[in-house]
Amino acid sequence: MIVSKESIDLSGRTCIVTGANSGIGKAVARGLASYGATVVMACRSESRGRAALDELKNETGSDRLHLKLVDLSEQASIRSFATDFLSEFDALHVLVNNAGIYPAERQLSADGIEMTWATNVMAYYLLTDLLEQRLRDCAPSRIVNVASTKAGQLRLDDLQFEKRRFGGIAAYEQSKQANRMLSWVRAEKLKSDGVTVNVAHPGPVATGIARHQTGLWGKAVRVAFQAFGRSAQAGGDTALWLASSPDVDGLTGRFWAKRRELTRSFYDPPRQIELSEYCASMIR
Ligand SMILES: NC(=O)c1ccc[n+]([C@@H]2O[C@H](COP(=O)([O-])OP(=O)(O)OC[C@H]3O[C@@H](n4cnc5c(N)ncnc54)[C@H](OP(=O)(O)O)[C@@H]3O)[C@@H](O)[C@H]2O)c1
Repeated sequence: MIVSKESIDLSGRTCIVTGANSGIGKAVARGLASYGATVVMACRSESRGRAALDELKNETGSDRLHLKLVDLSEQASIRSFATDFLSEFDALHVLVNNAGIYPAERQLSADGIEMTWATNVMAYYLLTDLLEQRLRDCAPSRIVNVASTKAGQLRLDDLQFEKRRFGGIAAYEQSKQANRMLSWVRAEKLKSDGVTVNVAHPGPVATGIARHQTGLWGKAVRVAFQAFGRSAQAGGDTALWLASSPDVDGLTGRFWAKRRELTRSFYDPPRQIELSEYCASMIR
């Protein structure tokens, strides 16, 4: 059984972690469970989700871990996850938007949206929208968005890579820039409701994030991640801390790595609003 070194007591608090079956999400779910929280692990694969659930139950001794299935690239699946969650659980105090992909090629989601944008951006956006009122009702509450310093290349005139050549890194970096810009909008929107919104940079972390990369490039990236990446536990530490620690009570709209605040770049209110309106227009 893993006993946390920090004396944080989250009993009575309910948390959702997306992509909780591996990497950073699993580390965050483990930490929250070890603090006594009720943790809903939002995962797309029944078998991978079940394996992670059993592992975390064994490690933490918690009987407050739950698995709920959702394909975060599909808006209908996100909606049914949210409906299900809201009917089954009375409270929500922490939402950790973590699930993400680093793709090799351009693919479309079931909703016809470029897959990186659908998974890394629209899922954060729509899931938060659907759960926002419950977070308000349970305030003080927290949203933690897992993003990255590996961010940039956002083109408001070509978010779907229809005009430029697709690149996995460009799509990933664009999505991680959008995560930050949309977090600043959300933080502003919720600041008087007792719901904080913070962004965590975990990496580089030795997880499976590069598994879709192919050929020599793919091999090189995977070797580099494994050789130079931090452990998932170390990588998840800042997101876990933002989700749970009294150190950050009331702090919102900030960007963090290794529990330290970084400069809030990509802060550009007019473009943020444009981006937010674009996401609203992509809701099916
Ligand atoms: N690793 C790094 O160096 C690093 C650095 C900076 C930021 N990050 C960020 O950290 C977050 C977690 O990544 P990770 O490194 O922990 O990678 P990971 O081990 O590949 O975990 C990604 C998680 O997201 C889930 N996921 C992906 N697409 C999904 C979908 N459509 N529906 C539901 N779940 C889905 C995966 O589920 P499956 O197992 O079913 O695929 C997996 O549980 C990402 O947002 C990433 O951008 C990572």
